[in-house]
Amino acid sequence: NESSYAFPEGFLWGGAVAANQVEGAYQEGGKGLSTQDVTPQGIVGPVTEAPTPKNMKLIAIDFYHRYPEDIRLLAEMGFKVFRTSIAWSRIFPKGDEAEPNEAGLQFYDDLFDECLKYGIQPMVTLSHYETPLHLSRTYDGWVNRRMIGFYTRYAETVFTRYREKVKYWLTFNEINSILEAPFMSGGISTPKDRLSRQDLYQAIHHELVASARAVQLCHQIIPDAKIGCMVLSLPAYPITPAPDDVIAAMEYEHKNQFFADVHLRGRYPGYMQRFFRENGIRIAMEPDDEETLRHTVDFLSFSYYMSICQAADPSQHRKGEGNIFGGVANPYLEASEWGWQIDPQGLRYALNQFYDRYQKPLFIVENGLGAADKLIVQDGMPTVEDDYRIEYMNDHLIQVWEAIQDGVEVLGYTAWGCIDCVSFSTAQLKKRYGFIYVDRHDDGSGTLERYRKKSFHWYREVIGTNGASL
Ligand code: BG6
Repeated sequence: NESSYAFPEGFLWGGAVAANQVEGAYQEGGKGLSTQDVTPQGIVGPVTEAPTPKNMKLIAIDFYHRYPEDIRLLAEMGFKVFRTSIAWSRIFPKGDEAEPNEAGLQFYDDLFDECLKYGIQPMVTLSHYETPLHLSRTYDGWVNRRMIGFYTRYAETVFTRYREKVKYWLTFNEINSILEAPFMSGGISTPKDRLSRQDLYQAIHHELVASARAVQLCHQIIPDAKIGCMVLSLPAYPITPAPDDVIAAMEYEHKNQFFADVHLRGRYPGYMQRFFRENGIRIAMEPDDEETLRHTVDFLSFSYYMSICQAADPSQHRKGEGNIFGGVANPYLEASEWGWQIDPQGLRYALNQFYDRYQKPLFIVENGLGAADKLIVQDGMPTVEDDYRIEYMNDHLIQVWEAIQDGVEVLGYTAWGCIDCVSFSTAQLKKRYGFIYVDRHDDGSGTLERYRKKSFHWYREVIGTNGASL
């Protein structure tokens, strides 16, 4: 039955990107350097002293100059919401200044106006893997408590400035990724293998307090806005029904659930107190931290690309691959070209898990398939026949619909990398997610022209029928 997949009225369909993966213009408009400008190979390669020409993110897809054309294309698909981030170092180039950079603020004013012109709601991530480099090098990023003040000043500045324009905010992108990527995620310069658990969890505490303060400020400054946290969701199934494997999966889940638990319940959970006790970790807290943490988020947002398995003894099983967290491979699932295991039902499972736990609205702010698309010419127009991407998203959206039938409150869905952008984990442009193809290649060649892929037309239909065409 054609209309069986109709979504709730007002469902927020759209797409997502992050400043550092699309904007380029890394030194324009007074922007300071960020951690992205010195990681030419993403999380898989080294951190360089200064920006190096091979770093694809320095130009990225030149969204900084071309956004009017891009937003027009998103509007053509019928987008209701566009998620992007503010590059913190455009607003506070070093991060610890007292006054913001007007040119940076103006850029986002213009970008948000462009979205609103088409009735597209901007959804803004305050910190998406782009800590000002100065904060990372001088303070060791979030290990230092002073970061809370720098972040809060930045948050207050942008809430005040965009109060009339932005009604959806996210505090930290994939906040739990700091466990695996302390530099990219937490701006922590100390190399991962020398970073103690004590310092790691102290840094996490600082981020959690900063996030709660941002929630408090947002509620004060923009009372009609909604602010959420954002986590990398990764359902972990036990590899076998052996109780040891089940408990291994549960303990693994706890490591990630901790972040959402604090954001939604306003306090540290018992299993983390135990973890700290047993590992000799003592979190230094200021007297009002507990009070601050009680400023809980309005909704939970998350990325979903894949599920993994966990085992009591991982050496007995095939290793899984993923953007940050790998786990053990699931023998029942196929994988993408980059080894990420494809599991549409895992999305229904994750939505139910989150909703059962918090009973708060959910927002899927990233989902999609990274693939090496091939440009072809059809009827004189360059395009990509990305049926594999259509299939991936169609299957996932059907599972979102299933979860909604289960009673889960889902606010919206923003497809990751709705326009091709530089990959976070590998910094390649070859790994494309978009409905829109961007003519730029990892050797630096390309015209930067934009072309509609087959999935562009598919998504426009999905939005236009509010899901009925799935
Ligand atoms: C998420 C990030 O981890 O996954 C995005 O929030 C990222 O920034 C996306 O781009 C897809 O990962 P990748 O490595 O394929 O770009």
